[in-house]
Amino acid sequence: MRVDRYGAITARSYDLLSGEPVYAVGRRLAVPALGLRPGQRVLDLGCGTGLNLPALLHGVGPTGTVVGLDRSPAMLEVARRKRASATGPGRLRLVQGDMADPEALREAAAGLPFDAVIATYALSLTPDPAGVWRSVSGVLRPGAGVAVVDMAPPTGAAAWAAPLARLACWLGGADIGACPWVVVEPELSRPRRWVRRGGHVRVLVGTWR
Ligand SMILES: C[S@@+](CC[C@H](N)C(=O)[O-])C[C@H]1O[C@@H](n2cnc3c(N)ncnc32)[C@H](O)[C@@H]1O
Repeated sequence: MRVDRYGAITARSYDLLSGEPVYAVGRRLAVPALGLRPGQRVLDLGCGTGLNLPALLHGVGPTGTVVGLDRSPAMLEVARRKRASATGPGRLRLVQGDMADPEALREAAAGLPFDAVIATYALSLTPDPAGVWRSVSGVLRPGAGVAVVDMAPPTGAAAWAAPLARLACWLGGADIGACPWVVVEPELSRPRRWVRRGGHVRVLVGTWR
């Protein structure tokens, strides 16, 4: 069973306790691979406390816009506070809503399709990643950049860490078996993949159609 654990207490401690020494590698690979250009509009799905935001805001520059969508008001509040101490030159909008809800996605898009979308450690928290992707593709322009970063059980020499990885995912409310990149990859041209942390961190970046 997946439980929403992203209330005020989690939000306040998230950046310290979410395991960035393990998980930062995913965002460090994915954001540059999107190849963002000045003036673009990017959607960060399940943006949480905004750990992707500095790199995204730098990528789109002062004329670009990053929209962070998250269903947790507490996580968005932390992202908003961090923005107050300036994280990058781009414009930032934070929208509260469910990424599976086409209405929330339309509100995030505000009438203009996105040039890129990124979801880091967020799609595996949703019960229907394929449904989310169908809704999200409705607010992307053809040729948009797509990045999915998520988790799987470690394998091979790292298999000993699988119980730890499962515990981390369970604590975060993620389904370690969801493999959400699998539903997105067939829709991408020029997909690139990275596997890190013994198979625990998976990165997929490509172009939508
Ligand atoms: C593990 S955190 C990841 C946050 C951030 N992307 C990162 O890389 O640190 C998952 C985030 O996804 C959000 N989330 C989960 N399900 C969601 C949904 N259906 N719609 C919007 N946000 C969701 C949670 O509120 C939480 O902030």
